[in-house]
Amino acid sequence: MHKLIKHVLSATNPIEGLTVKGWVRTRRDSKGFSFIELNDGSCLANLQIVVDAGVPGADPVSRFTTGSSAIVEGNLVPSPGTGQKWELKATKIELVGPADATYPLQKKGHTPEFLRTIAHLRPRSNLFGAVFRTRSRLAWAVHQFYQERDFVYVHTPIITASDCEGAGEMFRVTTLKGDIDQDVGKDFFGKRTYLTVSGQLEAETFACAMSRVYTFGPTFRAENSNTARHAAEFWMIEPEMAFCDLAGDMDLGEEFIRSMARYMLEHCEEDLALFAKFVDREVIKRLQFVVERPFQRIEYVEAVEILSKSGRTFEYPVSYGLNLQSEHERFLTEEHFKCPVTVFNYPREIKPFYMRLNDDAKTVRAMDVLVPGIGEVIGGSQREERLDVLLENMRFHKLRPEDYWWYVDLRRFGSVPHAGFGVGFERLLMFLTGVPNIRDVIPFARTPGNAEF
Ligand code: 4AD
Ligand code: MG
Repeated sequence: MHKLIKHVLSATNPIEGLTVKGWVRTRRDSKGFSFIELNDGSCLANLQIVVDAGVPGADPVSRFTTGSSAIVEGNLVPSPGTGQKWELKATKIELVGPADATYPLQKKGHTPEFLRTIAHLRPRSNLFGAVFRTRSRLAWAVHQFYQERDFVYVHTPIITASDCEGAGEMFRVTTLKGDIDQDVGKDFFGKRTYLTVSGQLEAETFACAMSRVYTFGPTFRAENSNTARHAAEFWMIEPEMAFCDLAGDMDLGEEFIRSMARYMLEHCEEDLALFAKFVDREVIKRLQFVVERPFQRIEYVEAVEILSKSGRTFEYPVSYGLNLQSEHERFLTEEHFKCPVTVFNYPREIKPFYMRLNDDAKTVRAMDVLVPGIGEVIGGSQREERLDVLLENMRFHKLRPEDYWWYVDLRRFGSVPHAGFGVGFERLLMFLTGVPNIRDVIPFARTPGNAEF
């Protein structure tokens, strides 16, 4: 394989006879030679190529337009110019694929909104190259975090018959034509099936066998919320631990967020510097803050009290029994506590059936981790492990226990206290990069009315 530009640029000595391959970012012609900035996506920086007139393959050099692809052979020498340590003096150049003047990434400084309309080309821009390199590294860091702690990676199904969150926000999966509710028995699976909203229920079965497990995969929500933080298809990381209570769950959630922030600071320096320069000046400071400071923990009732007494007028009402909206979450973390906040013990009415009921019979052992700039990044809970209470909870939420018979079985056979949570991978990336829109941290965003590419 040929050398990637990131390795060429980190050379410590000149190199003779090198081949690089990539896409032309810009070309400047001078008398007798041209400069080509070549990028192959392996790093933010381009490699400067010096092409002297008469170099085999160069004539006419005007074919090497922005967006075209090229293979260059040459010698790596110290660059006399400013701005780069090395340049490649071409001995041979080959145009692989031309790009005409309609190539849409001609100029610098396109808006993210415009780049979304050319999602097939935007990884070739500086910003999106950085975003998707970061996404890849962080996915690796997620696995490393859980693997180091002896969590077993479980691939939970994407097609499922159960609505984990009970919110009815599921995409139906069917091969039926016509009225899809008429002949449910004749459908592919012989029952109603959906794209999963969460792998939690299946992860719980594995936790109740293998102690510590996690899932990391795509999840789907047919919620019609066109916000900067909601996508219809997103990736979720869901650890689940047997013999664990709510306190242990919060410990792991906070440790995870802190660890990802530290990883970002230590391993993504070049791309992070780009985010700090062009996307969010505060991002590095915020990450350092999260690494250094303990998270604030408060009960839901205290959160409601703080918000009620804040003197703020919020768009959505605040009162006991209502969900916290993102404006409330952001007030708590950004303005009131000025640090990440974990809110726990929510009213049972606003949380799903599987959460463990507290002794007050009013609240459940739920927890949400809120971070500055985003609000909720983690949602989790201790699970109800008592058979009778779970069945009662299901009736309370108008669910039929027989539809969840295998889940209920876990409470019949060797039931144990257990807990877990879900992290939206894109929300985590928004927090770590400062990129303000979820559409810009996922390669091809699916949102209401949009499934292009
Ligand atoms: O709070 P949620 O709905 O929790 C669950 O699904 C649990 N079953 C997880 C568990 O305990 N194993 O979702 C978890 C996280 C949220 O905190 C948020 O970060 C992210 O998933 N999320 C979304 N991210 C992007 N777009 C959406 N539409 C999202 N909905 C939830
Ligand atoms: Mg939630």
